[in-house]
Amino acid sequence: MNPLTRLGRRRASVLTLLAVGALVTPAAATAAPDAVRASTLGAQAAQSGRYFGTAVASGRLGDGTYTGILDREFNSVTPENEMKWDTTERSRGSFNFGPADQIVNRAASHGQRMRGHTLVWHSQLPSWVSSIRDANTLRGVMNNHITQVMNHYKGRIYAWDVVNEAFADGGSGQMRSSVFRDVLGTGFIEEAFRTARSADPAAKLCYNDYSIENWSDAKTQGVYRMVRDFKSRGVPIDCVGFQSHFGAGGPPSSFQTTLSNFAALGVDVQITELDIAQASSAAYANTVRACMNVARCTGITVWGIRDSDSWRSGENPLLFDRNGNKKAAYQSTLTTLGGA
Ligand code: G3I
Repeated sequence: MNPLTRLGRRRASVLTLLAVGALVTPAAATAAPDAVRASTLGAQAAQSGRYFGTAVASGRLGDGTYTGILDREFNSVTPENEMKWDTTERSRGSFNFGPADQIVNRAASHGQRMRGHTLVWHSQLPSWVSSIRDANTLRGVMNNHITQVMNHYKGRIYAWDVVNEAFADGGSGQMRSSVFRDVLGTGFIEEAFRTARSADPAAKLCYNDYSIENWSDAKTQGVYRMVRDFKSRGVPIDCVGFQSHFGAGGPPSSFQTTLSNFAALGVDVQITELDIAQASSAAYANTVRACMNVARCTGITVWGIRDSDSWRSGENPLLFDRNGNKKAAYQSTLTTLGGA
């Protein structure tokens, strides 16, 4: 489903939350007296052992305004599209790492850590994969893809989105229909994580999804049950990514509870694709504060640098305007991180 459609469905509830949210005056985080109050997002996040990152598009790396902000503000990078299956293995057994290498090599030269996005996802999946109906064939194809891609980047990726968006929207709390679930069964997620652990034991392995930020939602509860089960059986999972594509009202009031409850299962939690319609200062501050208040919330990634770089550019959801100027939400984000 187009994420924007999803946002529309939540907007009504978000507007309600906005009314409630207005009652919550975000208190500026105060840094400890001896802490340095940094003047950039990544440097300030690092003060609390966190990262502050952004999605990066290889096609924009020739834009000096873009790269200037990228190098000044962010200490983590997620390729926006370049590590997805339709780029890395467009045809069976033929791997193309060029576009992602450009991003990974540049990040390494700038001391930025990498998030890998994403290994197993029903979207941006070549038809040669989505047309497979034989379980043994698909199992081999999936495990080979995971292994080949992770081997290529072995030791260079801090955290991988091993499986992305496998749960259904709405009230079922179950996995969505996809070629992976339909042909391999619900065990495909466990298999993907076990394969990933073997491929790069040093990488944190994450399950990543959207609309799992509100604690009482069935989708959130479905993912929570999966993670609890995995941890109880020793299935290798290290983190959960909350994409956090929010409407104008920002995060649900239960967002910090959600982060805290997942962390209590023994995983890191990460805000992995943050953007907020109209980018209100309060909405960004509330999001950042929820992470800052949960020790195992290890980092925040915004899904793009300038509004014009966003997949939802018409909603002006990011921290920099189309000219690369800081917006009010930038300052509220930096302040809430504890910065100057
Ligand atoms: O690369 C082709 C190019 O060759 C072609 O000329 C052009 C026009 O058709 O399309 C280009 O591919 C586009 C691709 O972005 C790279 O720019 C696709 O059409 C376009 O659909 C794709 O959109 C991406 C979207 O995921 C696809 O689902 C967005 O940039 C990206 O921000 C978005 O990110 C996703 C996360 O990966 C997962 N969570 C949701 C998030 C938002 O949808």
